[in-house]
Amino acid sequence: MKRLAVLVLLAAPMTVFAWPWSTDMMNQPSIKAQEGTPAAFPKRSVPYSIPYGGELTQVATRDEAKDLVNPVPVSAKSLKTGKQLFKIYCGACHGLLGKADETSPVAAKIGAIPLIGDYVQKDMTEGWIWGTITYGSYVMPAYGDPTGNAEGRGSNDLSVEERWHVVNYLRNQLVADANSAPAVTETAQASSDAVPVVN
Ligand code: HEC
Repeated sequence: MKRLAVLVLLAAPMTVFAWPWSTDMMNQPSIKAQEGTPAAFPKRSVPYSIPYGGELTQVATRDEAKDLVNPVPVSAKSLKTGKQLFKIYCGACHGLLGKADETSPVAAKIGAIPLIGDYVQKDMTEGWIWGTITYGSYVMPAYGDPTGNAEGRGSNDLSVEERWHVVNYLRNQLVADANSAPAVTETAQASSDAVPVVN
């Protein structure tokens, strides 16, 4: 009798697993691999297709971006976004107003050019500027797709659209902002070779 009781006790834990509710946790609503709609790409993924002019076009280098048509209309909102991004991403090297002045501690040292002169304001295409932001330049790092320069320098911090907002600001408001800002002091001018004379 005692033996039987021991056997029953030993067998009990095994049989417990066989109860219908033992697998309840497995049969719950959940999305299995390859099921349902794929999740959206994370916000900062590197885009492979560049939308412009209503089409999807691929560019992979600054040279290829040269003739891109700016798809983002100049609006108060675009200029505002562009200005904010410019201060964050460009000001550190080119100066807060693109003057390559003392508002950037490194402009003169690394040769970051002023962005308010004709070279950038008139001679360059908007596509080239967008391409420079996207893929970087000789010293300047990429802010869209670092695989577009030989050393892979840079980040993918700015989305396709954000880069166009920066272009809009740079070409439509930066010069006015730079001209209306108070003139830099003589001491500050003397301390930096790269300060352009803008009044
Ligand atoms: C880490 C420093 C750094 C930052 C940040 C930076 N630049 Fe530059 N940029 C440079 C330097 C240095 C040059 C000049 C040498 C070269 O072309 O790489 C340059 C050159 C340029 C040129 C001229 C390209 C050419 O073809 O001659 C443009 C336009 C430009 N930058 C725009 C921008 C914009 C817009 C931003 C912000 C999104 C930005 N830069 C952020 C360092 C920087």
